[in-house]
Formats: sequence, structure tokens, C-alpha cells
Amino acid sequence: MDYDAVTEFETDGDTETLSALPQTGEREVETTLRPRKLDEFVGQPRVREQLELVLESARRRGVPPDHVLLSGPPGLGKTSMAMIVAAELNAAIRITSGPALERAGDLAAMLSNLAPGDVLFIDEIHRIARPAEEMLYLAMEDFRVDVVVGKGPGATSIPLEIAPFTLVGATTRSGSLTGPLRDRFGFTGQMEFYSDSELELVARRAATILDIDIDRDGCAEIARRSRGTPRIANRLLRRVRDYAEVRADGKVTRKIARAALEVYDVDELGLDRLDRAVLTALVRSFGGGPVGVSTLAVAVGEEPTTVEEVCEPYLVRAGMLARTPRGRVATAAAWEHLGLPVPAGATRGEQGGPNLFDQD
Ligand SMILES: Nc1ncnc2c1ncn2[C@@H]1O[C@H](COP(=O)(O)OP(=O)(O)OP(=O)(O)O)[C@@H](O)[C@H]1O
Ligand SMILES: [Mg+2]
Repeated sequence: MDYDAVTEFETDGDTETLSALPQTGEREVETTLRPRKLDEFVGQPRVREQLELVLESARRRGVPPDHVLLSGPPGLGKTSMAMIVAAELNAAIRITSGPALERAGDLAAMLSNLAPGDVLFIDEIHRIARPAEEMLYLAMEDFRVDVVVGKGPGATSIPLEIAPFTLVGATTRSGSLTGPLRDRFGFTGQMEFYSDSELELVARRAATILDIDIDRDGCAEIARRSRGTPRIANRLLRRVRDYAEVRADGKVTRKIARAALEVYDVDELGLDRLDRAVLTALVRSFGGGPVGVSTLAVAVGEEPTTVEEVCEPYLVRAGMLARTPRGRVATAAAWEHLGLPVPAGATRGEQGGPNLFDQD
């Protein structure tokens, strides 16, 4: 299968234990661990049920289903779900990504190679270039593209039929999708962060596939620190396995998991060094805020986008940081987590609060 199109989203070089983005060299193991069928897919009960209906009804009518958009933060299973859509339909899947479709011609080539019923998966679809996006409108609606031949006044547009297909788009930022593109999807699945008990099942399943000896408490310990994200749960499982093999007898218990995660700087709530640095700066240097994100970023020596896109979504979700119109504010839970007395008037964050990832 062609994964080249998506390599661009891997981080380069160093590996971050708690990043929701795929790390260098992780693609292979991720492929091994991908659920292949809807009933193997842990969690996301709403999206699963909705998709099941969309797919089953299309199957009964003998037509390709409506186009599907999958949106949500990194590592929650969008790519896995796209592949499942194709597998459930017994259809071939062609994979590309928004940034790879720079010219309309790139997309035209892709579209004209589709066989009837194929699934076309466009990852990071919000990054598609304008001309390709416009070509996609017609393709999605009428299974037709207009190919422009020649240049200047002599240019002619030749209509080209394409096979009926299903587009599956994935995006971490559905807010950046243009209205016309969003409207052409018949179904949007909004992927949510996973609960601890769902992540336990994810870890259990991966342990079985990778032949890792782990008990229930070991799985629970990993789940709790995985930031609601299966990709992170699977990664922590592998790091804990390493520790168990080198420093113990290979069996993962709660004690082993805790000791291992301490070595990797993953704290009780799944915060890493940078998350803690952000919270500490917010609380110690800025009295709990409000403070602007760029100021906060300078204080921890990071890019504002890293703070905004990597740290904040989880800190917000864990109820430790609030984004207000006046800036970032530490909640009572943040002071508590750092072991500091909570000042009077500190806001109480909402546990599992709104998913702010998409609001850019
Ligand atoms: N529901 C799930 N059950 C079991 N494993 C899962 C599930 N969702 C994701 N995973 C695991 O997490 C890894 C990441 O999933 P996937 O690549 O599908 O996420 P994604 O949403 O496409 O991420 P990105 O936004 O970075 O592209 C996969 O390798 C898979 O093993
Ligand atoms: Mg993906």
C-alpha cells in the first residue's frame, strides 16, 4: 500500500513519547496495529454506528456510499477508519493527501484512474490547493472533471467522465475546510478523544498482537496516561514492554508500568516535560494568567504553534488550562497538579471540556 503521501506529517528526527503525531519509524508498527474491520475498532461508538448505517444501506442499494469526512485530533483513528470503509465495502483504496495535490492535474490523474466503487482517501484534506479543490467539487457531485488543455485564449476544457467512487477525507482541522467542500460530504464523523476504559481495550488488543504479557492493571496504568489517544497508548505500551524486558522478567504489571513511565517522563496524568513547563510558567511567572500564547511560548522556549497545537488541546481537555479572550489562564486543577496552593478566585476547569482543537 502507498503510504508515501502521508510521510510529510511525521515529525522529523527526535521522538516524543507523548506526541499524538506519528514518530519516525512508527508507521510499520502502526500498520500492524490498525483495526481492519468496524467491529475490531475500539471506541467511537457514535461514528461507528452512523458509518455502519451509511455503508450497509449503500451495500443494499448496490451503489457507492456518500462521501465521508472524518475529523478530529491526530492519532484517534481517522486513517484506520478510512481503510475500514474500503474493507467493509470490499473496495480498493487509493491514498493521497491534500499537500500532494498541488495542481489540478495531480488530482485529475488520480481520479481518472479510479475503478467503479473505489475509495479515494485524501488525508489532511484541508491542505488541498485551490484549483484541485475546485476540480473535486464537480468530481464529488457529478463524477466528472473538466480537464483544461492548452494555455491562454486557445485553451479548451474537455469534460471527462470518472467512475462513481467514494471520497473519504480526513482532517485535523475541519474548521479550515471551505464551506463548499464541507457541504459535499454526505456524512461527517467527528472523532472524539477516547475514555480510559476504551484505551485499556486498545492497549489490550495491541498487547495481544505484539505478544506482550501484560495484566489488567498494567493496561489501566497505560490507558490513564495516554491523553485520550490510541496512538499514544500503543506507543506507551511498547516503551513499557522495553522496560519490562530489560529491567524485569518481561511481564508488565502496574508497578512495572509506573516505573517505566517515570523513566520516560510521563506523569500521572500523561503530561510530559513541555506540558509541565507550560503550566509552571503560567502559574509561576504569570501568576496563573491571563497571558497571551506567544508570551507563554517564549517563556518555555517553544514556537507558539507547538504550545497551541501540541500542549494546549490536552491541557484544556484535562481541565488545567482555559483559553479566554484575554489569554491563557491556569485553572485550580493546574495549581493542584503542580502541588501548589490554589489561589482564591482560580477558575475551576471543566474536566473533558470542549474539544478546542478545531477552533483556529
Ligand atoms: N479505535 C482504535 N482501536 C485500536 N487501535 C487504534 C484505534 N484508533 C487508532 N488506533 C491505533 O492508533 C494508530 C493511529 O491511528 P490512525 O493513524 O488511524 O490515526 P489518525 O487519526 O489517522 O492520525 P493522524 O491525524 O495523525 O493521521 C494506529 O496505528 C492504530 O494502531
Ligand atoms: Mg491519519
